[in-house]
Amino acid sequence: MTPTLILIHSLLRWAVLIVMVSVTATMAFRYAKAAVWTASDRRSALLFTILLDTQFLVGLVVYGVSPITRGAMKDMATAMREPSVRYFVVEHPTMMLLSVLLAHAGSVFAKKALTDRAKFGRATAFFAASTALMLWGIPWFRLMAAH
Ligand code: HEM
Repeated sequence: MTPTLILIHSLLRWAVLIVMVSVTATMAFRYAKAAVWTASDRRSALLFTILLDTQFLVGLVVYGVSPITRGAMKDMATAMREPSVRYFVVEHPTMMLLSVLLAHAGSVFAKKALTDRAKFGRATAFFAASTALMLWGIPWFRLMAAH
């Protein structure tokens, strides 16, 4: 069960990554073209946040069952002194939480913007920051589930 969950969490990164990069690029392109904001742009913004939220939720479950985090909970002081453990206990989840918050802020600010250009501008800025944080926070040293 646990290896399967970690594998799902690992594989889902690619779907999340592809969608985040392509939606951000589309928002930037449509900002540059001064395009009209349509229902399909709203759907793209929704897809961006929904996929990221899904991965975040899977991450929360992984956090509860992962051998790394469960091991850390037994002796937090030692875990915090070990960078490879602290990474999964603190740093990786924190960066992903910030990425999710930026994605939601972008979605809300784009919705509230009064002009179409401002909608694309806000979506581009926040989604780019969210994607950058997500890229930074992914453990690239683990290309596939190691368990
Ligand atoms: C939302 C975007 C997230 C992405 C893209 C992401 C991506 C990843 C990736 C690629 C791995 C390595 C999996 C492997 O190949 O072994 C991983 C591991 C892990 N993630 Fe995430 N993660 C995200 C969010 C979270 C969150 C929010 C948490 C916790 C609250 C979390 C907890 C963990 C833990 C504990 C591991 C290590 C599991 C183990 O090997 O025992 N992740 N994550």
